Amino acid sequence: MESKIHSSLRTVEWKDNTVVMIDQTKLPNDLVYVKFTDYREIADAIRNLVVRGAPAIGVSGAFGLALEVLQSNATTKEDLLSDLEQARKVLHETRPTAVNLAWGLERIMQVAKSGKDVLNIKESVVEEAKRMADEDIQVNMRMGKYGAQLFSDNDTIMTHCNAGALATVGYGTALGVIRATKESGKKITVIATETRPVMQGSRLTVFELKHDGIDVSLIPDTAVGYAMARGLVSKVIVGADRILHTGHVYNKIGTYQIAIMAKEHKIPFYVAAPLSTFDLKSRPEDVIIEQRKASEVTTLAGKKTAPDGINVINPAFDMTPPELISGIITEIGIAKPPLEESIKKLFESKL
Ligand code: MRU
Repeated sequence: MESKIHSSLRTVEWKDNTVVMIDQTKLPNDLVYVKFTDYREIADAIRNLVVRGAPAIGVSGAFGLALEVLQSNATTKEDLLSDLEQARKVLHETRPTAVNLAWGLERIMQVAKSGKDVLNIKESVVEEAKRMADEDIQVNMRMGKYGAQLFSDNDTIMTHCNAGALATVGYGTALGVIRATKESGKKITVIATETRPVMQGSRLTVFELKHDGIDVSLIPDTAVGYAMARGLVSKVIVGADRILHTGHVYNKIGTYQIAIMAKEHKIPFYVAAPLSTFDLKSRPEDVIIEQRKASEVTTLAGKKTAPDGINVINPAFDMTPPELISGIITEIGIAKPPLEESIKKLFESKL
């Protein structure tokens, strides 16, 4: 059964053995849905940011494998697993930082490997991918309920990038907490940063909050210090692409400088992320930060904003260390500092 949420957008969906997604590159000007039947198209969609946000690409990767299981002509379990492995590799290589992608692909591969025969694998893989999509919404809603306790009536909440319905299957992580706070009856307003260079804040966060009737003001990334120094911000909440066992949080480029500024102004800085965003094995030096193309920085709306032939550094993510974080909200509770200890306890409580 599919979860229905009336107050937000459904980013990615399995429909009649195809995958339907909102094309996020067209937002905020056009709300366009695109349909895919081949995992290679899903890989392109992830690479080109048609779909983005850690949980959304995790489920999209799973849907990519579900398409492959239907398309494969394999007649033996071994051949089907080999086709799936080939697809897994292509999907996995699209974006290196968000761990949800590897998590989603691995969960499907495990289901496929435990299948009896070709028919059984086909059915169970499609079912599992659909279940993951529905679970994503439920997880976000649970996270929202925990997170809402941290926010008060009349809070102004700053967020960065888009960790909303558009970054997940629906409802959102950081914006899910904002939605749940509002649904609990508290009056809140949001300040969203533009999030240069891809503008997930202005194009996506502001679009979806406006769509759902949540009060939001857009600021340039450069006005974060101004807003905090003027007392315009009560709390900050962001999503995450990967969280290590030590509490190091990888998220959209610019998160780190916002966390530092929040600390300076004694403003609580929260992260909201599902357990599927935790990577308990890696160390900071193991994490690959995706570097994106220079033209994202040297052009604006198709026009050049920098001279030709210059050097550009365009990392998609940065790392915020645990000492800058006031709490990490998950679907099973909130990890508070010291984060390494509370993350350990959180995962132990799950066993
Ligand atoms: O490059 P993007 O748009 O995929 O980056 C997205 C983010 O950094 C989000 O904050 C993160 O994935 C959390 S989404 C719930």
